[in-house]
Amino acid sequence: MSDTPVQRDTSTTAAVIPAAGRGVRLGPGAPKALRTLNGTPMLIHAVRAMAASRSVSLVVVVAPPDGAAEVASLVDEFQLPTGTEVLVVPGGETRQQSVALGIAVLPASVTTVLVHDAARPLVPVETVDAVIETVRNGAAAVVPAVPLADTVKQVDPRPDGGPEPVVATPERARLRAVQTPQGFDRELLARAHATVTGDVTDDASMVEQLGVQVVVVPGHEEAFKVTRPLDLVLAEAVLARRRANHGF
Ligand code: C5P
Repeated sequence: MSDTPVQRDTSTTAAVIPAAGRGVRLGPGAPKALRTLNGTPMLIHAVRAMAASRSVSLVVVVAPPDGAAEVASLVDEFQLPTGTEVLVVPGGETRQQSVALGIAVLPASVTTVLVHDAARPLVPVETVDAVIETVRNGAAAVVPAVPLADTVKQVDPRPDGGPEPVVATPERARLRAVQTPQGFDRELLARAHATVTGDVTDDASMVEQLGVQVVVVPGHEEAFKVTRPLDLVLAEAVLARRRANHGF
C-alpha cells in the first residue's frame, strides 16, 4: 500500500463554452460566436483552444437556443483534434443560465470544469493548462487575469449621456482584468450556480458570493474578449502573426 497523498491528477476536465450571446456590441449580423476569423467561426477557434489542452477530454458548447442544430453541424464540419468529445446544448436568456445548462450535462466523472467565453477565441494553451494545473493542485476556483494599462474610475452612471461624477479611483496596481477560461472544482461550481442569484458577469464572482477563496493566475494578452468591431481586426492580426511564426 502506498502512503502517497491522494491528488486530483486522475481527474477528468471538461470545458463549458457559453456561446449563446447575440454580441450586439459587434454590430448587426450573425450571433457573435458564429462570426468568422480568417474564415473559421470564433466558436470553433474557442473549441480548438480548449481541445488543445491534453487535459480537456470534453467540450460542452452552449449554443443560441434557436441555433443548436446549426452549431452542431459547424462542429462536425470543422476539423477538431481527435481525443476530445464535443457536445452541443441549447443556451438560455443570460450567460449564467447558459453556463448552468452546460454544467447540467456533464458526466459524473468530471471533477474539474473550465468555463470559457466563446468570445475569447485565441487564448493560448499555456494559459488553459496553467488554470487546470492550479485547480488540480488544490485551488477550488482559479481565474486568469492581467494587470490594467488604464487607470479605472468608479462613476455615478448617467444613462442620459451627461457628464458622470467620479466617485472613486481604485489603486491600479491592485486591479486585474479577468479573462477565461476560469477553472473550478466541479461541485463548487454546481453549488454556486444552484444557489447564487442576481446579475454577475463571471462565474468566479458567484463562487466569491459563497465565501470561497478565488485565486488569480497570469492571463495572456491574446486571451482578450472580442467585443467591438476593432477586436475582430486585432484577432485576425494575432492569427496572421501565429501563421507567420509557426506556419498555422
Ligand atoms: O455578453 P458577454 O460578452 O459578457 O458574453 C460572454 C459570453 O457569454 C459570450 O461567449 C456569450 O456568447 C455568452 N452568453 C451566453 N448566453 C447568453 C449571453 C451570453 O452563452 N444568454
